[in-house]
Amino acid sequence: MCGIVGYIGNKQALPILVQGLRDLEYRGYDSAGISILEDGKLQRVRAVGKIDNLVSKLKDQNYPGTLGISHTRWATHGGVTEENAHPHFALDGKIAIVHNGIIENYRELKKKLEKKVKFISQTDSEVLAHLIGSHYKGSLADAVRQALAEVRGTYGLLAVHTDHPDQIIAARLGSPLVIGVAEGEYFIASDVTPMLAYTKQVTFLDDGEVAEISRENVRISNLKDELITKGITQIDWDQAKAQKGGYEHFMLKEIMEQPTVFEDAIRGRINMEEGTAVLGGLNISEDQMRELKRIMIISGGTAYYAGLVGKYAFERLAQIPCEVDFSSEFRYRDPICDKKTLVYAVSQSGETADTIMAVREAKRKGAHVRGIINVVGSTIAREIGAGSYIHAGPEMAVASTKAYTNMVALLLLNAIQLGRLKHVTQATGKRMLESLLQIPAKMNEILKQADEIKAIAKKYAQYKNFFFLGRGVNYPVALEGSLKLKEISYIHSEGYAGGEMKHGPLALVSEEFPVVAILTRNQLYEKMKSNIQEARARGARTLIIATEGDIEAAEVADDIIFVPKTMELLEPLLNTIPLQLFAYYIAVELGRDVDRPRNLAKSVTVE
Ligand code: M6R
Repeated sequence: MCGIVGYIGNKQALPILVQGLRDLEYRGYDSAGISILEDGKLQRVRAVGKIDNLVSKLKDQNYPGTLGISHTRWATHGGVTEENAHPHFALDGKIAIVHNGIIENYRELKKKLEKKVKFISQTDSEVLAHLIGSHYKGSLADAVRQALAEVRGTYGLLAVHTDHPDQIIAARLGSPLVIGVAEGEYFIASDVTPMLAYTKQVTFLDDGEVAEISRENVRISNLKDELITKGITQIDWDQAKAQKGGYEHFMLKEIMEQPTVFEDAIRGRINMEEGTAVLGGLNISEDQMRELKRIMIISGGTAYYAGLVGKYAFERLAQIPCEVDFSSEFRYRDPICDKKTLVYAVSQSGETADTIMAVREAKRKGAHVRGIINVVGSTIAREIGAGSYIHAGPEMAVASTKAYTNMVALLLLNAIQLGRLKHVTQATGKRMLESLLQIPAKMNEILKQADEIKAIAKKYAQYKNFFFLGRGVNYPVALEGSLKLKEISYIHSEGYAGGEMKHGPLALVSEEFPVVAILTRNQLYEKMKSNIQEARARGARTLIIATEGDIEAAEVADDIIFVPKTMELLEPLLNTIPLQLFAYYIAVELGRDVDRPRNLAKSVTVE
């Protein structure tokens, strides 16, 4: 959600910035802009809509400048217009800034500044630009520090000034910024993706830090200008991983990657002999784990549905009560958690604003907090400092797929580990781990059916409404399947626990309202079958996810997709995949913008 790219070095900045913005497209945006320092003047080009629109406007320009900043904007304050797009200027174009985040007190600041400057846009970011301008007395870094001291809100900020052709100022509070380090050049961006082609050495800015970046070095300080020493982190993502790899969409590529990245998630984390999981980076001793009275899982969207799967595993294996909550609810509901509570914060991006705030709330109450995070060095990962990376690699499509399976994998490993400290036997632990090791091959079995699933999806693409039903551990699978369909195809769909249908939703069922149901061979098989029959009796067309070889399931199916058998708690790792493919092929059939669905952003950094 909003992306920043900056460059200072010896190369032409323009192509690096344009490509960098394209690399950040997956975050979601509705306008883009660029500013290059050129012969003592800041050139600026902005455009509404896709980056291609910006590129067409740049067609006749070939700014050779070697310093520049750029931005993709996802509108919050003010509509989607060129005036509201970044960069914003101050001091008659001497200063340019790009800004992610929200300046909460922008109205009062604007009132003060309005006496001296004329505002062009409706944005809070332009207020920040003029605030910096109002403090400028020869040092851009000082002006930024003084302005930020007056600001309430969040920012990831880059600022440049025509009188400082050898400097970019970067600052961060609540909105991520990474500095890529190479010989005589620096890349600054909202995440590492735009710099992977040039360097894997990065420094993550932390909240409250200001970086003064020249071609030779970086000086990092706090708002009081006290020096801060920071290390360099080596990133192991390669650029190919961040590109489409021959697939039509990132989403399909990411679905297909699941067997491989699942192996990455569990590699080195299994102790088969002891029948347990080996998870480093914990902030809690084994004794404290044995004394836990409660587990809470906080997250949003798909990460929330992964958390719901985790609940079944924690309660069954560790026999510890587990609550799963949306981060946006948790943070405001005065949750009951204390030092005997273990809170898992689950997030692909590690930047979800609601989850960041929920983590802070959990910490404030004294709970042990662990992250289950994909993006290395992200805000949540660093704030928690304990937990596990899910190793799903860059997930570019807005719709989360491979991150989901790897989140579930990590939650299962955590549940096995806790279970083994209580009453799960070595043999049970071992059996679960052996089943986990078989998952990638079984995922491949499902992925091989992509063409059949595509053909089925075509038959369903014209329906306007869907139900997704599941029971037990497949209830969250139904919710996730429903979310996938609605977010990328824009078709209305509802996920329900099978047993709930008769309490109201059944009234909606008709020939026009198909039901997608998960009917795999587990303890709730017969119950689920009855629920499907109830829907069929009211005319619903049914698409059934069933266990390989289950002829009986065909009795209640108009269409059927088979998945390999696995242990019940592990079923979501397999059963979700046909639903991802189903949603994907329907969205393709309807000509939707699969990787960047309307109104959505990859990284939800506003509340
Ligand atoms: O980055 P996070 O995992 O914290 O993001 C949470 C949700 O915003 C995310 O899962 C969202 O629901 C996806 N669009 C689902 O596909």
